[in-house]
Amino acid sequence: MDSSIAASGVFTSTRQFLAWKKQKLDGYGSEYTNLPVNIADPFRIREDEYTHLVEQVRRRNFVLYRLDPEYSESPQAVMALCRQLGLVSTIGNPESGQDHVSYIHDRTRGLENPSRYIPYTSKPLNWHTDGYYYPENHKVRSFVMHCAHPAGSGGENGLIDHEMLYIQMQELAPELAQCLCLPDTLTIPQNVEQGKVLRETFQGPVYSMDENGCLYMRFTQRRHHIIWKQCSKVTQAIAFLNSMLSSPLPWKVTVRLARGEGILCNNILHCRHAYSDLHPETSGRLLYRIRFHERMSLGHP
Ligand SMILES: [Fe+2]
Repeated sequence: MDSSIAASGVFTSTRQFLAWKKQKLDGYGSEYTNLPVNIADPFRIREDEYTHLVEQVRRRNFVLYRLDPEYSESPQAVMALCRQLGLVSTIGNPESGQDHVSYIHDRTRGLENPSRYIPYTSKPLNWHTDGYYYPENHKVRSFVMHCAHPAGSGGENGLIDHEMLYIQMQELAPELAQCLCLPDTLTIPQNVEQGKVLRETFQGPVYSMDENGCLYMRFTQRRHHIIWKQCSKVTQAIAFLNSMLSSPLPWKVTVRLARGEGILCNNILHCRHAYSDLHPETSGRLLYRIRFHERMSLGHP
């Protein structure tokens, strides 16, 4: 085991980990709601709406919201809401527009070019954090997923606060949790498309302490384009993590976003169930996704 990985993984001492854990669990509480916070005017959120949003994020690193129907299909309204929570530095990708908004829908339905990226199909997406393949100076620390139109059926999202998962893993298998903090736990090979390098090789830990003092997680259950460290402990650790993700954890949330509803989160673990759109001629599932460099600000707007 790397000597830099202390007994408490990403924390510098057991004492520091226990203090962080106590603060997290005390703040998490046992009573919380999965009802969305209603937002009357996303361009100018009220003090009470802001308080409800921030309270949920502080506890669980995510919050569900519902915009007034007038704004259900407005990416500008979603962006305005994000800005009031301190999210301003957007991160684009080759699939997003100039405004860095990704329009996530099933591109295999119509006459558009089918995407080779699974998010743009109706297939299930396994557990992952966003941008697990991005370099350190380009980390995705938060994102919003907003439903402009739900699927005919399916398309639920699973959500897990990665901090709660870390605590659970430290309690059940501390040695395996520590393996996931090694700087060479995962390797993402170079991404080359038509001879052009879109992304350099990246190597990093699953769990790390971000420069802002918050726990950061890089993870995907994808089997392609990711290489796990060839070491029996890391293999065990990934198997253990996967077994936790498929078990009925008390803080696992499954939500089916309705029109005008969304998820704001500090890049927690999430997944998507498969879905189907009822008729090819009607609008299908459409989500707006915007990624940010910052975590959500928990101060005053
Ligand atoms: Fe995602």
